[in-house]
Amino acid sequence: MRSRLTDVGYRSIFTAATRRERIANFEAYWAYSVGHDGEILQNQKDLVKKRDTLAGFQADPVRSRRPLADPARFYRNNVIMQDDPRTLDRKTLLLTFLYKFARHEYVGISAAWERTERMTESTSMLAKIGLYHLCEEFSHMRLFQEIFRTFHLDQVEWVPLGKWMSRMYRLFPMFPEAMLAPPAFVSELMGLTVYGHIDGVLDEILADEPEARERVRALLREVMTDEVAHVGQRRNFLGPLGLRAARLMVESMYRAFFRDIPETTRLFNVEQMVRDGKAFDYSTIAPEMLAKSWVPSYCRASA
Ligand SMILES: [Fe+2]
Ligand SMILES: [Fe+2]
Repeated sequence: MRSRLTDVGYRSIFTAATRRERIANFEAYWAYSVGHDGEILQNQKDLVKKRDTLAGFQADPVRSRRPLADPARFYRNNVIMQDDPRTLDRKTLLLTFLYKFARHEYVGISAAWERTERMTESTSMLAKIGLYHLCEEFSHMRLFQEIFRTFHLDQVEWVPLGKWMSRMYRLFPMFPEAMLAPPAFVSELMGLTVYGHIDGVLDEILADEPEARERVRALLREVMTDEVAHVGQRRNFLGPLGLRAARLMVESMYRAFFRDIPETTRLFNVEQMVRDGKAFDYSTIAPEMLAKSWVPSYCRASA
């Protein structure tokens, strides 16, 4: 007899949901967030449980035994690729890719933070969800820095984007929620897709570094567990029209984004990433992550 757990199947992230289901799911998500993160630490853009998790990693550091052949190559190419990417070794390439991807996120969340009011007694549930979400994203930036430190890259700072791009990100939160909800959802989905593909190349790229590889995987999966929940949360903001718009946006948003990161095609299969985004359901996520994450009720199906 199969156990009940294995009977749970998943429906596409693009499955329809009623308004009532979405309201119930926001309540469920908020309860999940508080349990998952603990108290918010607004001045530090942090959350109690996230802070403790990071402290746990830092108290037990793992450092690569085979440092990068030339760390200067990382620092020369992380913000903008200066060298021919074909000349970079795969470890450096993976790390400069991760930096570029995370930096975009850093700029986006910093702009959103500026426009977000701090939490008070009267803050609505949706606004609290937003604040927790942003603090989780900031905690990911610290986990990424810990990944860089694993490779003895202790000098990694998040460089703001150029004037034009920063202005775009600052304008972003001024659009009405209905317009922003689909691209905000697709960004989360893209993040999850990227981290899944990074996870998929760790065995090959870090084959000669089993300890560092396992540490990087553990740090990455901390982030992914939250991203799994963000995908469902941002999905829950979408009504039928938004959902349709989001589905149409997946391909063009993924392609436009990766076109700007020259490392992408050297590391990953962009076609597969696009297919994974369009076809996403939770069956591809490791059960250990799902156990600590959150899935909308309407994306679960009992087999
Ligand atoms: Fe993120
Ligand atoms: Fe996220």
